[in-house]
Amino acid sequence: MKHLLISIFALTLSLGASAKDVFVNTPKTTLMLAVNEGQTPRIQYYGSRIKPEQAHEVYDARGLNCDAYPAFGRDSFDETALSVTHADGNMSTELVVTGCQQKGDETIISLKDKKYDFFVDIYYKANDKSDVIVTWTVIRNGEKKPIKLEQYASGVMSLRQEGAWLTHFHGSWGQEAGMTEEPLTAGLKTIVNHDGVRTAMDDRAEVMISLDGKPQENSGRVIGAALCWTGNYKLRIETRGKNRHTLLAGIDDLHTAYTLKSGESFTTPELALAFSDEGKGGVSRAFHRWGRNVQLHNGQALREILLNSWEGVYMDVNQEVCEQMMDGLKDLGGELFVVDDGWFGKKYRRTNDTKALGDWVTDTEKLPNGIPALVKAAEDRGLKFGIWIEPEMTNSESELFEAHPDWVVAHPTRELSKGRGGTQLVLDLSNPKVQDFVVGIVDNLVKENPTLHYIKWDCNMSMQNFGSSYLTADKQSHLFVDYHLGLRNALERIRAAHPDLVIQLCSSGGGRVNWGALPYFDEFWVSDDTDAQQRLFIQWGTSHFFPPMAMAQHVSASPNHQTGRVIPLKFRFDVAMTGRLGMEMKPSDLNDQEREYAQKAVAFYKEIRPIIQLGDLYRLLSPYDNKGFCSEMFVTEDKSEAVFFCYKFENYIGLESPRWHMAGLDPDATYQLTEFGSTDRRSSSFEGKTFSGKFLMETGIDATLSGQFASRVIRLKKGRVIRLK
Ligand code: DGJ
Repeated sequence: MKHLLISIFALTLSLGASAKDVFVNTPKTTLMLAVNEGQTPRIQYYGSRIKPEQAHEVYDARGLNCDAYPAFGRDSFDETALSVTHADGNMSTELVVTGCQQKGDETIISLKDKKYDFFVDIYYKANDKSDVIVTWTVIRNGEKKPIKLEQYASGVMSLRQEGAWLTHFHGSWGQEAGMTEEPLTAGLKTIVNHDGVRTAMDDRAEVMISLDGKPQENSGRVIGAALCWTGNYKLRIETRGKNRHTLLAGIDDLHTAYTLKSGESFTTPELALAFSDEGKGGVSRAFHRWGRNVQLHNGQALREILLNSWEGVYMDVNQEVCEQMMDGLKDLGGELFVVDDGWFGKKYRRTNDTKALGDWVTDTEKLPNGIPALVKAAEDRGLKFGIWIEPEMTNSESELFEAHPDWVVAHPTRELSKGRGGTQLVLDLSNPKVQDFVVGIVDNLVKENPTLHYIKWDCNMSMQNFGSSYLTADKQSHLFVDYHLGLRNALERIRAAHPDLVIQLCSSGGGRVNWGALPYFDEFWVSDDTDAQQRLFIQWGTSHFFPPMAMAQHVSASPNHQTGRVIPLKFRFDVAMTGRLGMEMKPSDLNDQEREYAQKAVAFYKEIRPIIQLGDLYRLLSPYDNKGFCSEMFVTEDKSEAVFFCYKFENYIGLESPRWHMAGLDPDATYQLTEFGSTDRRSSSFEGKTFSGKFLMETGIDATLSGQFASRVIRLKKGRVIRLK
């Protein structure tokens, strides 16, 4: 071990542990690896935090003993993380440890091929404010000639437990984040995205694995994994026998062979991992805290209540109608007005979705005084202003495409396959000129409107063509990767220049959001489906990995534009309030009674906003349980305040309200309960009363919900602490 360079930090390698054991610790979890020079690095343990002197327990009970970065070609009968064609054509790789360093929160395990000058560094980064460990690799070609990476996953995790279950999320437009929970059985389960751009149409790049049988919200051991990559990905869970499971996650290996010249290196995307013994909810809270502290742009700032023009007027925007919506928003107590699609285009006017993407100049027939007049109108009313763009796209009917037909993703020999509106095309972000163009869209908007506060950044098409006029013939297989490195480059430049601009991530499709994008975005549009009943399911699934503060949830008109369903305004607000509240309607369509209710709801949300946006989420009763009810609650980190939500979305004789059990409270404290906006004719026995946290969690309260689309919002304030033991 004398060549292993292990710093004093976190050591971790002290009493009891042999020098070969490396500990990566978060506040409540430990990842332990055996790192022996000349051997493959092996994951031995991932679970609740253990001390170095407990390393023997891991071995005495037989550790996981899983290769931390299995490469193809030597003893590789299981799924591999890495496959390389070396400069001499050899397709086998044999990696062994050459060193290990721990500096600050980072652990680097250095590997080298036994025979070739081919190197891999495995990184693990532990976050001290959440229980998330991030892993990635840096792959370097030290050979004299180019090599080809055929497969280059980000990381690996292993578990041994019979009866483990997988939770994953899939969907399509309007039914995003559909949750499937299934036992892991022998064979290979693959979750993959081939859509090319960041709008994954079907699946999400995040999974949870529950070790103690059927997934529970607040109990049992669970591992969560999220690949932080905006492009094509592949998550594999290989199950051998009944109890040996290995998760491998990384960039998809289909049509993505990547050549590295001598001396070049490639950094794989981050794979974020969390372990919790508090069920799926524990893993969610770890990811939410990681989001707020690390991975989400501006994760500590409260998000504003906005009105987005889309469902109010769609593309029929003009100065007058926008000002009317601003008046309505101000009257309701909102803070930010966003003009959506339809504001731009000169030669080709954006009157429908067939044209003008890429021509980011104001349509002066709709807005004669341009965007500055809209900004001024908003500011005159004390509102902030935001605007919609779709920078990664163009239409074949656009001045941009006429000027730069070679800027779209396509092969010049093929007829173009077009997307939305029969004309939409994807811009080739592997091309630095296209990156400059995208950066310029934001720069120009800010230059023209220095107080511009918010941008909604949309993306509504997959890569339907394949090919790049920018990449050379021998690098066409880099497109799926270089497009996203180009996107990242553009986003980094935009963020460096405009750190305070609030930017919403938006896209179509079931995937929509990804931890690879969120370092550059403040929030994301959860779904175009604003039907409050469907949103209960969509938001439930989405919240498994993404923090409520980033989930844009809008109250829209009734009947709902997507489903035609009629749902009372209170229920719509109560569903939208569990994330970043907004509105997606013409306020003038509300009647007086509704307007008065909306004003109260907006004012109430302002009071509870810090609890929702900066607190911990506890999902309680799942809408997926087919009981017709759903509940969840938010608790501040210091447990002094909480807000409880419950919903009834089915109705038939005999459907009795459950007793509501809370979670996350201080068991020894008392909490006073007050309900907001109850429309139930029967008074609530708990109103204004005080209960111990333990009672609320164990015994729970009876709060009947009558009729379909009934809901309650109950605020809890901590009073005295009573020691019960
Ligand atoms: C898709 C988005 O999800 C909608 O909210 C809206 O912005 C449209 N695009 C505009 O074309």
